[in-house]
Amino acid sequence: MLKVRDLHKNFVVGHGALGRFQHPDHVIKAVDGVSFDVAAGEILGIVGESGSGKTTLARTILRLSRADSGSVRYRGVEVLDMQGKELKQFRREVQPIFQDADSTLDPHQSVSSILQEPLLIHGVGDEEQRRWAVSAVMRNVNLAPSFLNRHPSELSGGQRQRVAMGRALLLEPRLIVADEPTSGLDPLVAAQILSLLLGLKRERGLSIVLITHDLDTVAYASDRVGVMYRGRVVETIGGAEFRHGALHPYTRLLLGLDEMLGQPVLQEGVHEHVHVFEQGCAYVNSCPHHVHECHHDSPALREVSPGHFVACHVVGQRRELWRVGMKR
Ligand SMILES: Nc1ncnc2c1ncn2[C@@H]1O[C@H](COP(=O)(O)OP(=O)(O)OP(=O)(O)O)[C@@H](O)[C@H]1O
Ligand SMILES: [Mg+2]
Repeated sequence: MLKVRDLHKNFVVGHGALGRFQHPDHVIKAVDGVSFDVAAGEILGIVGESGSGKTTLARTILRLSRADSGSVRYRGVEVLDMQGKELKQFRREVQPIFQDADSTLDPHQSVSSILQEPLLIHGVGDEEQRRWAVSAVMRNVNLAPSFLNRHPSELSGGQRQRVAMGRALLLEPRLIVADEPTSGLDPLVAAQILSLLLGLKRERGLSIVLITHDLDTVAYASDRVGVMYRGRVVETIGGAEFRHGALHPYTRLLLGLDEMLGQPVLQEGVHEHVHVFEQGCAYVNSCPHHVHECHHDSPALREVSPGHFVACHVVGQRRELWRVGMKR
């Protein structure tokens, strides 16, 4: 369904934004050589701390932001080169759901016209068919028909997120890229939104890229999990294995599996990292297990067991030793 290969997206910040005066300190490698696949009907969870590049990755895949290099293939076609009709069809089949429904729903429109809009843009159906499609999608996202006449300001956060989901579903997408779709919602509402997403996958065979910093959500919902650290994917692992079977030192730190270290908070909204490392492992300075080559050789993702990939020299070389050490 989706094949992402060696995707790069840099941001140039501060002074030196003028070409040849660029200083490496001012280049943020927000997405730094990311590769992964999403199969049809699969939920790929992406997890990582604030500033690790999750949103940039989503925006680059969705063509909302231009990639610097790499490849994103959707059903065999290069997304980064799409134009005209092809791009429009892509925008129809691949729908984003963002965290903040407030900012994506027009406050001046009623729910009814918000939901009609994508159908109008893509010239789908006549008026009656559109009305029928809107009421069907309202049922899908568990909103009563009476909400159709309301405006976003007259809805709760969870209801707004349902409207945003409804809007994404109207065009019958094959792939949804959801960036923190449940964050900011209270736990009960978040669970409802999540179960809606899971239902869509089950009933319609939708593929979903589910971006979150919530480890419970990602472990519960995902078929596979990709862990991002400073713009790179450092581990991909089955959702069922994630909680206890992760091997990358950073993932283990996140999950509290590495007893020597505390568990960091995966908060959102703080972008403090400036990523500058031309060579070596991105995690080397925080890793308690680093060896000499971690400083000058960037580890590639290596398959350590079927479907489980880890980008770590230590895990790659001394896996059995490592497992024993971790259990201690
Ligand atoms: N438009 C931009 N201009 C410059 N730097 C940016 C821009 N957008 C993102 N960045 C930087 O790129 C890095 C990745 O940011 P991104 O928003 O993708 O992280 P994230 O993983 O989504 O974080 P969060 O969990 O807080 O949402 C950060 O260091 C951020 O400061
Ligand atoms: Mg983000």
